[in-house]
Amino acid sequence: MFYDRITHMSQSKTKQYDVLILGSGAAGLSAALHLQPHLSVAVISKAELNSGNTSWAQGGISAVLDRDDSLAQHIEDTISAGAGLCDPEVVEKTVSEGREVIDWLLSIGVEFTREKAFHNRHHLHLTQEGGHTHRRVAHVADATGDAVQNQLITQVRQREQIDLLSNHIAVDLITAGKLGHQQERCVGAYILNLDTGRVEVFRSQFVILATGGASKVYLYTSNPDGACGDGIAMAWRAGCRVANMEFMQFHPTCLYHPKAKSYLLSEAIRGEGGKMILQDGSEFLHHFDPRGVLAPRDIVARAIDYMMKKHGHDCVYLDISHKSAKFIAKHFPNINARCNKLGYDMSKEPIPVVPAAHYTCGGILTDHHGQTDIPHLYAVGEVAHTGLHGANRMASNSLLECLAYGRFAGEHINTSFASDNQNLSVPAWDESRVSDSDEEIVVAHNWDEVRRFMWDYVGIVRSTKRMQRAQHRIDLLLHEIDEYYSNFKVTSDLIELRNLAVVADLIIRSALARQESRGLHYTLDYPDTDPALDQVNTILTPDSKVHSESHPHSLPA
Ligand code: FAD
Ligand code: SIN
Repeated sequence: MFYDRITHMSQSKTKQYDVLILGSGAAGLSAALHLQPHLSVAVISKAELNSGNTSWAQGGISAVLDRDDSLAQHIEDTISAGAGLCDPEVVEKTVSEGREVIDWLLSIGVEFTREKAFHNRHHLHLTQEGGHTHRRVAHVADATGDAVQNQLITQVRQREQIDLLSNHIAVDLITAGKLGHQQERCVGAYILNLDTGRVEVFRSQFVILATGGASKVYLYTSNPDGACGDGIAMAWRAGCRVANMEFMQFHPTCLYHPKAKSYLLSEAIRGEGGKMILQDGSEFLHHFDPRGVLAPRDIVARAIDYMMKKHGHDCVYLDISHKSAKFIAKHFPNINARCNKLGYDMSKEPIPVVPAAHYTCGGILTDHHGQTDIPHLYAVGEVAHTGLHGANRMASNSLLECLAYGRFAGEHINTSFASDNQNLSVPAWDESRVSDSDEEIVVAHNWDEVRRFMWDYVGIVRSTKRMQRAQHRIDLLLHEIDEYYSNFKVTSDLIELRNLAVVADLIIRSALARQESRGLHYTLDYPDTDPALDQVNTILTPDSKVHSESHPHSLPA
């Protein structure tokens, strides 16, 4: 498919940069800001610069700041939530960055919520979320992501050498190997400029994938529309290994409202005393885990799913009505406003909630610097699998990972950067053999179909039979989408559908391969955790095989 769209006849007019960053969320912008200022950089976003998950983040960023907390405890909590699959070295390396990440964000102007009563250097108010045994989540009320995203954009705009390009969607990576060269490396990407409708060649010495997660593969999700797993699919097509895709995280508490798109109600609400109750007012989580409302997300989401199915209910309820209206307005001003708009009052009544797809724990396999299997290609943020999250990410560890690994990747490129004298010829995108689609309905239909069967067959509770059904359908759809892709001009919907289908396939294959239940992967056919599979990751290799590996994070020589 890659070769269908390029021609060796014409040398394309290319855009040339030292570093091309695909994605303008926390991970991409952190990387951009840690590159040496003299390097020429393009940061690409397929929509507005703030259209990714980062801006939507609510709860905050985890870091050991309280004097009674410790790195050892944050490490232990992360590993415990990760259900035997976290890479302990990666956990230690990332968690140890917490304080520095928060100091850096303060230095660039992020106004974290403060409260005198909190004993840390800046008197930051620290909230608590599932899996954390201490208050260690620094936040900007309930809109942490928006505050972080805005300050990062402000900083990047001040760098003369950085071009920020919105409305540009990457179609595929360009690698020397695919162009017939012996020595493999990433040399850029084909990018559709959505304003002109033309596919352009972006050449660069290094490419950083920071395209975020893939929760849009499910019908109900807390994520914005662009979370289609584009980076995972592009890296996979280019020849990278992909790990642990069976661990898709479902957030327990998304607002249930027939007329509203899924909207997250932060786990911090439970951290500040919120209860989970059934329609009759009874609490139920302590029947599933002694930590009750502060159990890790996989356990809480599964418990809610179980209770909804058992009682035939459409939702359960999140109740913080015992707190004052003043407390709620101070801690959760945005969530409160959204609830009010939809006719609910958090200070007076329980709010209906359901779980929804939230976070992609698996992704492109990287090493400790964010390097992928392909030389000169890095992956950072939700698109990557570093080994931090294991079988279930602990709340607020994602922004920490995005910001820390953005820096690791940026600094690693700084040390390995050398001017490229190789005059590699990159062919132009060829649209001479394709036409405008007259059947957009096919794209829309396939989008809906993938997302619906992933929700029904590969969701919170799985079974081999249901997953095999999903496998059968995705095989047919992949074939149909490939054919469609070969015949029609690319559009953003088609690019996203093509990627979504690849990611769905990777999730299904990984889930079928894991014959146990662990963390976010629960299957009725293997309901127990198999201790023999502790530290055994599911690795999909470019030859399309599924392997199990204990320490996958060192890259092939
Ligand atoms: P994103 O911020 O998602 O950015 C992806 C970027 O890639 C975007 O700029 C997008 O336009 C671009 N892109 C994608 N595909 C392409 C393409 N093909 N071509 C060009 N550009 C492309 N985590 C926490 O740690 N704490 C929280 O409190 C928290 N709350 C959350 C609340 C919500 C509602 C959600 C959805 C997530 C939350 N998370 C939280 C998770 C966290 O926000 C994300 O994991 C994190 O922001 C991902 O950042 P990123 O930089 O990897 O990707
Ligand atoms: C939340 O605020 O509940 C989301 C936190 C996260 O996903 O880390």
